[in-house]
Amino acid sequence: MNILHLDSSILADHSVSRQLTREVVESIRLAESSVHVVYRDLAQHALQLDGALLAAKGTPAENRSAEQAAQVREAEAVMAEFLAADTLVIGAPMYNFSIPSQLKAWIDMISVAGVTFKYGANGPEGLAGGKRAVIVATAGGQHAGTPTGIAHVDYLRVLLGFLGITDIRVITAEGLAMGPDVRDPALAQARQQIGTL
Ligand SMILES: Cc1cc2nc3c(=O)[nH]c(=O)nc-3n(C[C@H](O)[C@H](O)[C@H](O)COP(=O)(O)O)c2cc1C
Repeated sequence: MNILHLDSSILADHSVSRQLTREVVESIRLAESSVHVVYRDLAQHALQLDGALLAAKGTPAENRSAEQAAQVREAEAVMAEFLAADTLVIGAPMYNFSIPSQLKAWIDMISVAGVTFKYGANGPEGLAGGKRAVIVATAGGQHAGTPTGIAHVDYLRVLLGFLGITDIRVITAEGLAMGPDVRDPALAQARQQIGTL
């Protein structure tokens, strides 16, 4: 099984989502006989979809500058990792009611018409099906099932569904800034959810 393990928290060793995504990957390792993990730290190494990348992609390979060639190589590597993955483990802390911009940048790189989705006579069709996604969603407050969570976990569900991924599990650890009485049970519950993966 190929796992693509993504972290996006900017909090390095203090990050809860980083700790929990590690635990998710370890739990899958224990359950599966053969696991290959590709790790991408989106906070350490930021991606960006911008005009320069689009221009580089639109330039014939033989005419690209060294910089453009490197940009296209990176975009292709990001896409290849995504396409090769059977399981995505996505660390998704809530930042300002949404996901970190670094995670959004990765989404911008892998959402490519004709590769991971297309529009047909019946509307959009996801081309990246057959994968499982495990989202580790952390937040300082509590948002699940309320309008304040729409741009966080609900958005990720919509996006992954758009790409054809329907097997989505969400590990939630919310209320992490609300003191130990909320935080400790939230973490225990997240770990219990990981145990059931
Ligand atoms: C820049 C920033 C923005 C945040 N915005 C929110 C927010 O809108 N709502 C919320 O509940 N928590 C918010 N938080 C708190 C984080 O969601 C919380 O600290 C969570 O543990 C982050 O996961 P991490 O520990 O893996 O970084 C924010 C934290 C940061 C650093």
